[in-house]
Amino acid sequence: MNLQTLTLRDGDEERHACFALAREMEFQTPAALPESFLSETELADFGALRFPLKQQGFLLGRLAAKRALGALLEEPDLRLIEIRAGVFGQPLVRHSRAGRAEVTLSHSHGLAVALAYPGESPMGIDLETVSAIAAGTILGELQLSATEKAWMAAGTVGQATACGVLWTAREALGKSMKIGLNCPLGILSLDHIEPAGATAWTGQYANFPQSRCLSQEIDGRVLSIAMPMAIELRPWPLAQY
Ligand SMILES: CC(C)(COP(=O)(O)OP(=O)(O)OC[C@H]1O[C@@H](n2cnc3c(N)ncnc32)[C@H](O)[C@@H]1OP(=O)(O)O)[C@@H](O)C(=O)NCCC(=O)NCCS
Repeated sequence: MNLQTLTLRDGDEERHACFALAREMEFQTPAALPESFLSETELADFGALRFPLKQQGFLLGRLAAKRALGALLEEPDLRLIEIRAGVFGQPLVRHSRAGRAEVTLSHSHGLAVALAYPGESPMGIDLETVSAIAAGTILGELQLSATEKAWMAAGTVGQATACGVLWTAREALGKSMKIGLNCPLGILSLDHIEPAGATAWTGQYANFPQSRCLSQEIDGRVLSIAMPMAIELRPWPLAQY
């Protein structure tokens, strides 16, 4: 499903978030031409990008993010929603009805995912392609906690997938706090991980007990969402897309 409406339950209060994705192959159709969803300013930002990989990431990320925001803000004309980069690289939303709406996004190998959410419930999303080669590199950088080492050693999850979970859990939390990965990665480690079905896991952060992580593997990629511990996300795991 390209678009999913999610419920955030905080005690008796309910809010909504919207999850959306965009695929590289969509750019072969006129419906996904940059002019059809980018504002004038974003078109200029896009025009200034020199490298094809950067251009592709920009378009995919903006399309997914605007789809998610378009659903949350009930705005069918995606050109009226603007996403600029903040001082830390974090996405900033501009729209006449944006209010406290925010968006978090990630792209990996031809697929972008985004989550538009009410700023009262800070969230971060990350997507990585499961790859044994990347796993070797990632392992050296993660600064694993004792819990994470034990989880990996138990072997209940393949090493590449486990690395994907631990990496995306860190990046999702970094995005939810707007710091990205500009800190020692061990600070963002997990001290509790448990399965939530065959290909999904929940985690708690060692140094940020007010946040938790929801991770799942879909179609060769791991997706993680970091969000406040006190808030329930439904449905989760997300439907296959
Ligand atoms: C957050 C960060 C890790 C994203 O990197 P990535 O895996 O290459 O990219 P993703 O596709 O998952 O996410 C990219 C999106 O994250 C968002 N993002 C970037 N910085 C962010 C921040 N500080 N807070 C929240 N979101 C942020 C942006 O929306 C970006 O997309 P855009 O540039 O098209 O708008 C990166 O920007 C960062 O923090 N870099 C800091 C230094 C670093 O790279 N350290 C690596 C340590 S080994």
